[in-house]
Amino acid sequence: MSRADLADLWWKNALVYCLDIETFLDWNGDGVGDIEGLVERIDYLAGIGVSCLWLMPVHPSPNRDDGYDVTDYYGIDERLGTLGDFVVLLRTAKDRGLRVIMDLVVNHTSDKHPWFRAARSSPTNKYRDYYVWRDTPPRTKKADIVFPDAEDSLWAYDERAGQWYLHHFYSHQPDLNLANPKVREEIKRVAGFWLELGVDGFRVDAVPFLVEDCGADLDPHGFFKELRSFISRRRGDALLLGEVNLPPKDLVKFFGHDPGDELQMLFAFPVMQRLHLALARGDARPLARALRAMPEIPSECQWAQFVRNHDELTLDQLTDRERQDVFDAFGPDEDMQLFGRGLRRRLPSMLGGDERRIRLAYSLLLTLPGTPVIFYGEEIGMAENLAIPGRMSVRTPMQWTDQRNGGFSPVAPSRVVRPCPDGRFSPMAVNVAQQRRDPESMLNWFERMIRRRRETAELGAGRLTVLDCGDDSVLGHVVERDGVRILAVHNLSDEPRTVKLRIGSTEGCEVSDLLDGGPVPDFDLKLDGYGYRWIRIQPSDVRTAP
Ligand code: NOJ
Repeated sequence: MSRADLADLWWKNALVYCLDIETFLDWNGDGVGDIEGLVERIDYLAGIGVSCLWLMPVHPSPNRDDGYDVTDYYGIDERLGTLGDFVVLLRTAKDRGLRVIMDLVVNHTSDKHPWFRAARSSPTNKYRDYYVWRDTPPRTKKADIVFPDAEDSLWAYDERAGQWYLHHFYSHQPDLNLANPKVREEIKRVAGFWLELGVDGFRVDAVPFLVEDCGADLDPHGFFKELRSFISRRRGDALLLGEVNLPPKDLVKFFGHDPGDELQMLFAFPVMQRLHLALARGDARPLARALRAMPEIPSECQWAQFVRNHDELTLDQLTDRERQDVFDAFGPDEDMQLFGRGLRRRLPSMLGGDERRIRLAYSLLLTLPGTPVIFYGEEIGMAENLAIPGRMSVRTPMQWTDQRNGGFSPVAPSRVVRPCPDGRFSPMAVNVAQQRRDPESMLNWFERMIRRRRETAELGAGRLTVLDCGDDSVLGHVVERDGVRILAVHNLSDEPRTVKLRIGSTEGCEVSDLLDGGPVPDFDLKLDGYGYRWIRIQPSDVRTAP
């Protein structure tokens, strides 16, 4: 695949960075991050090699689910700035070569959204059918409840309406009725509006829920085809990145038919969950099995690989025994666990702050076939603040300096949107300013690794083979594209290992170590404890980055 083809399918070789404007940088000094603050730090992001920003919800909202409860799809939360500021952000990002995608949260609205207010008012109101109502609600299966700490049913009774409405998430987030063509039109109008302003696509929230329980009238995949075709008509290269936490065979359906006519990119939840199991056990086999089990995907589609995101680290696809092993290793206290299925921690604290292990995990992430997605602060090794309830523990302010509130905001800590952690991972110990000055820091390591990853486009668009390394602690995999093979080897144990790899013929090939630049005389590879190697094997006549 040439560089030009890759520019068309830009998501195949992107580095996506997820952030919440509200916790990134407070520029106007009111304790809440804002668009102006983000604009100030676009050069920082471009500098570390980010190529696409994913913005968490920016719309007006009562903020009972951190903005995932929208009251106006066409507006900007006034704490963050104005639509004018947003256009400045898009323009600045574009100027620095960054794409911008945003959350499209259309499974539900806030119950304060004017549509829901109107819908409740009367059965004949024109917005009534925008939501899903029943006189008698079906029984809810316990396993279907997403937030078991707050809800015990998927249905809530509305006194005013005199009926029950569906809500897959909190009861203040009534589900939209996708079976209603008018709702589908509204969603397209919203997407069209932001595309027109200049965004490059959307991270589609809660994908499977969107099309569940809408009755027999709606073909779930029909809706995604309709959305994709609309979006492509408006902006040929706009991206739909879907949040679908399902096992591989169900997950893959949301790509649609070759070359991909639904969502182009899906988070690889099954791989992420086994990555944590493998790290917890120091055993590469669960990850190797998960990678082998991932199905072929349509040619224009892509996996989004991630280690952590803004929610709990969900482990719902693991068996009870496997989940318990991850809990024991990474979150033994009950307070670190959430919903009985996940952990409300970031990776560095889960790994006890051991930088060798943290780097191993991110090196793995960058070599997994697909597009890496990182969550703000991962590049400096930020941890969570468990004093903040629930999932918000990982959404603390970005730590820029060792000053008050980590340089995020000048206000008194009691007035800041969320408090930074204390102790070992506080801004005194973990911040951008300090790490910039240290060539060996996590930040500078990340920058070098991201540069290498982006130069190694095969990893984003190649074909995966998981090797048999003869050592359970070591994962060896090859990603091949147009005769170029990228071999990645990761040692998940703290002991040094030597593995003998059979990678096929290397005749007529140049073999080089992509990280230390040294020669690779043979494939008896030595690895330090938690060591990793990236090796490129390419026909001698192929030219690549130095
Ligand atoms: C998934 C989002 O990631 C999560 O943060 C949110 O609470 C739910 N969808 C509901 O929108």
